[in-house]
Amino acid sequence: MFVEEMFGLTGKVAVVTGGGRGIGQVVATGLAKAGAEVVIFARSDASKTVELIESEGGKAYQVRVDVTKEEEVDLAVKETVKRSGKIDIVFNNAGICIHKGTVEASIAEWKEVLNTNLTGIYIVARSIGRYMIENKIKGSIINMGSMSGGIVNIPQWQASYNASKAGVIHLSKSLAVEWVDYGIRVNCLSPGYIGTPMSADTPQELKDAWIPLIPAHRMGTPEELIGAVIYLASDSSGYTNGCDLIVDGAYTCV
Ligand SMILES: NC(=O)c1ccc[n+]([C@@H]2O[C@H](COP(=O)([O-])OP(=O)(O)OC[C@H]3O[C@@H](n4cnc5c(N)ncnc54)[C@H](O)[C@@H]3O)[C@@H](O)[C@H]2O)c1
Repeated sequence: MFVEEMFGLTGKVAVVTGGGRGIGQVVATGLAKAGAEVVIFARSDASKTVELIESEGGKAYQVRVDVTKEEEVDLAVKETVKRSGKIDIVFNNAGICIHKGTVEASIAEWKEVLNTNLTGIYIVARSIGRYMIENKIKGSIINMGSMSGGIVNIPQWQASYNASKAGVIHLSKSLAVEWVDYGIRVNCLSPGYIGTPMSADTPQELKDAWIPLIPAHRMGTPEELIGAVIYLASDSSGYTNGCDLIVDGAYTCV
């Protein structure tokens, strides 16, 4: 009962971007278990996430949207409000990574990463923030950063990714202060290495190089991020605003 009072999300509507797989999928199921109705903003099919949530008695549906396209995001927000009545929470999670040295990577690849990871987060936060302000909703926006926003990963080169995530961290702080008087909280979640399809695409020799650098001696699981997102989404984090919550097995401590 106490836990439900502190962290329960019953009656809340939560948007999860990129919720068709990986961290977004697992966190979406966690938000639903905490009581939220979950709306997956997905560029590709997210029916598996919807099925997972419904099979456990939760409520969910998907809206097809590319987070880099402002008009599509605005339409998706309208559709969600029409269908669910409101939006209280956003887990702004969609992102991509390209492992390439700066000289080898093209400017098009730089722009693709920045456009998805930073501008996409901005477009979604702006569209839903505008909706929350106009409708006096004291919502919670959780942007997906990364420990890569504060450190430089080795041995792989990914300057565009690192720069995009540093941008997300400071964008989150900027919006937290800009929207504080509306009662909208904006925080950032910065995981370390997490085992997902994104990291499954990574060559094994890279992953073998990462493990000795992690004080926890292993990568994290997407399930180990659920509690952090529920905390930031719930009223128990009412005084937590503009924070960058790092969940990295102590990687950034050493
Ligand atoms: N896996 C890790 O180790 C790790 C660590 C720190 C941060 N992150 C961040 O977590 C987030 C999720 O990563 P993941 O590992 O689950 O990756 P993933 O590749 O499994 O999932 C990313 C999701 O984002 C969606 N997406 C990408 N571009 C999109 C767009 N333009 N519009 C809509 N959806 C789009 C994809 O379709 C996919 O569903 C990313 O922002 C990533 O940078 C991941």
